[in-house]
Amino acid sequence: MHPVYEKLLSCYESVREQVDFVPRLALVLGSGLGGLADEIDVVRTLDYGEIQGFPVSTVPGHKGRFVFGYIGKVPVVIMQGRIHYYEGYPISDVVLPIRLMKMMGAEILFLTNAAGGVNHEFCPGDFMMITDQISSFVPSPLIGENIEELGERFPDMSRIYHWDLQGIIRRTAADLDIPLKEGVYIQLTGPAFETPAEVRMCRGLGADAVGMSTACEALAGNHMGMKICGISCISNLACGMTDKPLTHKEVQETADRIAPLFKSLITDSIACMGREMGI
Ligand code: HPA
Repeated sequence: MHPVYEKLLSCYESVREQVDFVPRLALVLGSGLGGLADEIDVVRTLDYGEIQGFPVSTVPGHKGRFVFGYIGKVPVVIMQGRIHYYEGYPISDVVLPIRLMKMMGAEILFLTNAAGGVNHEFCPGDFMMITDQISSFVPSPLIGENIEELGERFPDMSRIYHWDLQGIIRRTAADLDIPLKEGVYIQLTGPAFETPAEVRMCRGLGADAVGMSTACEALAGNHMGMKICGISCISNLACGMTDKPLTHKEVQETADRIAPLFKSLITDSIACMGREMGI
């Protein structure tokens, strides 16, 4: 058996020995945005460290656990803290939790992150719904022998971010009177923030926001046929766009400031997705 698949199955068995909850939707919370998981109707939590063989996050502000519960009537699994490539894990470990949540039952993958604004029209505190992505700067999690149990060798990538889900997020933001930007997310490896020259490169390539996560996760989710949507919280303008140096503290401070709006946008969107799924 493919060693990546073998590890995934063993993590799945370890989860199922402890939790029988079946989520319909998987939500990944980005840097500083993990607080949302504490405010939902929680059924059970499972620390990543309790799952045999699971890669454990080392970033401050990333709690590192699955939260199982309900948003509206929708059974969800939330990642409170994700695994980043810059932590030194192989890319197959970085996307293992995404694959695991699909195996648990999640059909929809809702990705969130904190990101740097590359588009000159963005401001810190803006929300950007992700419409497409560039993942070419990180290794593909699909490299190596294809895991047929997960998906096909050459998956189509023309609509990673599901159009109907985008429509729901757009309508929810309008109903809540939350201005919503839209654009392309580019993933670089980090952990250093970009140089001004790299930010100009990102803009030249067509990106609107830059971050260190998400695109590889969407790629793995798309491979497995998940319906995907994503929101970037623009925590700062990318390097070189202001004269201030960039710090992780600024990223966290903006996330704290927008947390209440972020919570409404995410929870109302998910409740609406649930209604569309007939839940
Ligand atoms: N660059 C990369 N990742 C980030 C940034 C940034 O400016 N802000 C938050 N995550």
